[in-house]
Amino acid sequence: MKTWSRKDFLKASLIGGGAALVAGQTRLYGQVAGAAGSANGTIRVGIVGFNSQGMGHLQNYLPGGKGKLDGAILAGICDVDDKVLAKGRDAANKAGLKVAEYKDYRKMFESKDIDAVVLAPPNHQHSIMTIAALQAGKDVYVEKPLSHNIWEGRQAVEAARKYSKNIALIGTQNRSSEQIMNAITMLRSGKLGKIKWVTGTCYKPRDSIGLHAGPQAVDAGIDYDLWTGPATLTPPTRNGPKGTVHYDWHWFWNYGGGDITNQGIHQMDVARWMLGANGLPDTVMSFGGRFGYRDDAETPNTLVSVMNWKGQAPLIFEVRGLGRKKGMRAMDVYRKSSVGVVVQCEQGYINVAENGGSIAYDNDGKKIQAFDGSDNGAHRKNWITALRSRKVVHGLMEEGHYSTALCHLANLSFLAGTEKANAQLADAVGSDLAAKDAYWRALDHLKANEVDLDATKPIVGPLLTVDRKTEMVGHSDKVVADAANNHPLRKRVGRGAFTIPQLSATVAKA
Ligand SMILES: NC(=O)c1ccc[n+]([C@@H]2O[C@H](COP(=O)([O-])OP(=O)(O)OC[C@H]3O[C@@H](n4cnc5c(N)ncnc54)[C@H](O)[C@@H]3O)[C@@H](O)[C@H]2O)c1
Repeated sequence: MKTWSRKDFLKASLIGGGAALVAGQTRLYGQVAGAAGSANGTIRVGIVGFNSQGMGHLQNYLPGGKGKLDGAILAGICDVDDKVLAKGRDAANKAGLKVAEYKDYRKMFESKDIDAVVLAPPNHQHSIMTIAALQAGKDVYVEKPLSHNIWEGRQAVEAARKYSKNIALIGTQNRSSEQIMNAITMLRSGKLGKIKWVTGTCYKPRDSIGLHAGPQAVDAGIDYDLWTGPATLTPPTRNGPKGTVHYDWHWFWNYGGGDITNQGIHQMDVARWMLGANGLPDTVMSFGGRFGYRDDAETPNTLVSVMNWKGQAPLIFEVRGLGRKKGMRAMDVYRKSSVGVVVQCEQGYINVAENGGSIAYDNDGKKIQAFDGSDNGAHRKNWITALRSRKVVHGLMEEGHYSTALCHLANLSFLAGTEKANAQLADAVGSDLAAKDAYWRALDHLKANEVDLDATKPIVGPLLTVDRKTEMVGHSDKVVADAANNHPLRKRVGRGAFTIPQLSATVAKA
């Protein structure tokens, strides 16, 4: 299994930089004041990064485009890949628009002809671009996750607070699902009794990305320095069906965080919201590995993380990239959930589907209530509402930051872990019933995939404590704590022209 060893973890942490000064904030409930739009009131939108997800956004701003958002129009496109830029130009021209083109987002942000920007580049660009856009006076919709690392996410939150004349909203779209809001109302009413645990499931097929020897050439037409931005500049070491640069960056720590920060952030956000847990947890512990194949990627395809807030039920998060059994593409289902959230209460459970659809069941699996209202597709319309009303209601930056940071914390425990025999893993999981259950189910899943845990040992992470104010972690072994705090997933300041400004001088308010 090719994944980071503890030695790699400690070594890499030395590159990460020193301790952060992160600081006390009041909650960011939304912004008011300011005004978006050209003289005739139409909001002129620039899209940054549109190989895939961004192309869906781009369509929203084309006359006759899919999901066209009223009162807003595409005015500029920015991508560092010539081929992608050409795709955007063609789409705009076909819709009868001539739009400004940019390879460098900083140039787009300087333009007086752009009011708002939608950011859909890779994760490692989200915070730095959010901050730059806000500094330039633009309204911002930034795709999830908010950050590549905890520290830069906090700086993005602080930028939203500092430049509050501008709107900043994060694309954790479930926050606009009325069905989830209605399910939460039922939960809080106590009709199902107390919450016993909340489980987020991210069971999504993730194939091998192939195995290649050494550095690969950057695909033609891509400005790789701009693509790399605040990450460490290093040649690509992948060459799958999506080429050497696009998409598969998700599986490399320099840019992404595996499926927990890719698909999983959506379910993590819903899970934390439904649990009613504010801010960061008090503890986090993870185990997992990259099982079933050997390929170029670094991040685990199987991960179980247990998070605890004092006085609250545990939040368990499960990532599975392998199918139900070896050779099968269909994924496991836990309480009707493959990609979703299960809120287990005393008298039943609520299942939230990937699109935000929410249903309550009794403990025998009999439907009690299906919740009404919009699903998460309402988020983009709510963004336009926010631009008009100058107030963010759904998609608050600070909530997005906390949910994103949970994913980073889960990964940090994994990265601080060591390969252990299964018996030691069972001990490390502890006595919590829900955590033990997740462990047994993970074991069954791996067995069904014919993974030999004696040959490919799981990585078992330490139980890290979290300082909710400083947003740093602790552990009785100072070496482990220092390594985690200095790791790029906890803090990375960027490089050269892509250095992230430190805007937060005090600690985060939990
Ligand atoms: N909300 C959702 O449900 C959802 C779904 C899919 C993806 N996403 C998010 O959208 C983002 C993009 O995902 P994707 O699958 O399209 O990735 P991708 O790698 O296929 O595309 C990213 C694009 O950004 C461009 N890019 C990179 N750096 C840039 C820069 N500095 N300036 C301008 N363009 C730059 C790339 O050239 C590429 O065209 C990810 O962060 C992902 O998490 C969100």
